[in-house]
Amino acid sequence: MKDVFDKREFVFGVAVEDYNFTDREQETQQLRMNFDSGINTILISPRRWGKTSLVKKASRMVDNDRVIVVYLDMFPCKTEYEFYNALSTALLIQTASRKELWMENAREFVARLVPKISINPDPNSDISLSLGITPATHTPEEILNLPEQIARQKGKRIVVCIDEFQQIGELPDSLTVQKRLRTVWQHQQLTNYCLFGSKKHLMTSLFGLRSKPFYQFGQMMYLTKIPISAWTGYIQSHFAEKGRKISEEIITELCTLVEQQSSYVQQLAGILLSMLVEGEAATSTHLKSAFTFLLDACTPLFKQQISTLTNYQLNCLRAIVAGHHTDLGERAVRDGFDLGSPSNIPRLKNALLERDLIEIDGREVFISDPVFTRWLKERG
Ligand SMILES: Nc1ncnc2c1ncn2[C@@H]1O[C@H](COP(=O)(O)OP(=O)(O)OP(=O)(O)O)[C@@H](O)[C@H]1O
Ligand SMILES: [Mg+2]
Repeated sequence: MKDVFDKREFVFGVAVEDYNFTDREQETQQLRMNFDSGINTILISPRRWGKTSLVKKASRMVDNDRVIVVYLDMFPCKTEYEFYNALSTALLIQTASRKELWMENAREFVARLVPKISINPDPNSDISLSLGITPATHTPEEILNLPEQIARQKGKRIVVCIDEFQQIGELPDSLTVQKRLRTVWQHQQLTNYCLFGSKKHLMTSLFGLRSKPFYQFGQMMYLTKIPISAWTGYIQSHFAEKGRKISEEIITELCTLVEQQSSYVQQLAGILLSMLVEGEAATSTHLKSAFTFLLDACTPLFKQQISTLTNYQLNCLRAIVAGHHTDLGERAVRDGFDLGSPSNIPRLKNALLERDLIEIDGREVFISDPVFTRWLKERG
């Protein structure tokens, strides 16, 4: 064995492509087809399973003569107009080809603004643009119609991909904003949307409830885990490239330890690889050390996460870790783990759900993060 981390063959925590992307053929095809044929898509999965990577991959595959894909992240948008600024900026920059002035796309739209543009001389870097759109310069409808206007001018379809879309539920007066968006979007002929996000309970309440504006807005896609069989070839080839070996059995063990959560599979495989010397094959003992290393690496974050919880909430996590997925409300469990009165249980579940720490599937409650589960069991 040698010191960990000399080179990272495996990538985690950011969107991946090419060499670091595996599987998802069927999902990529489906998305690409939706982009090409104008079907709205709603893509949902738990955190770090690969939504952003998948959407970016499908975006790169569309026929650019017919379709332009525009990507924006809604996470930083805290108000309706912050979203409109982000949307307009993404549209103006990403629909302009390098040869033309981006303003040509929407001369009239931009004429009312005093935008701050900085164009970096490096041709590979992005243009940074701050438009300064306010209710005094544009109505919401004018902004929401911008993609359709650009699409018409260019004679192409536009697909607007909005990452972390669950953020819309957090905007002030959210329901009014949602109604506004839906009303404009549903009449657009050349513009489609791919809306994706991770907080399943929020995404489901935005799109799955009959009473909500976005009910039945598009095709719902729930991302599944990348199967172990797909990880096998990927991990083996990356090991082989560095002159290290790993058997199918150890890969299965590795994937199972982190319940096939994409980001953790990559992270753990990377740690394991860097523990081996040239020609060496990974063993269960190596894997055990690598997993301990992973737990250590996650400890600061997990400690920070539990530091924000009340005692009751932490006890509730401990009860779930101990296997109480359906019976948290029962007296023996409540007394055994000090969870308070029966009426406290729904409150605890909601608080943990809000923090994205648990997931609820029917009557069953789970901890979302497999490594956090192990950490709580062993060190919490
Ligand atoms: N198709 C894939 N092949 C290999 N690894 C992947 C794949 N998709 C995701 N990963 C791994 O998962 C990590 C997170 O991917 P990505 O950011 O796309 O997920 P996400 O679902 O958008 O996450 P978040 O919920 O944080 O937005 C990547 O850095 C990579 O390690
Ligand atoms: Mg993402």
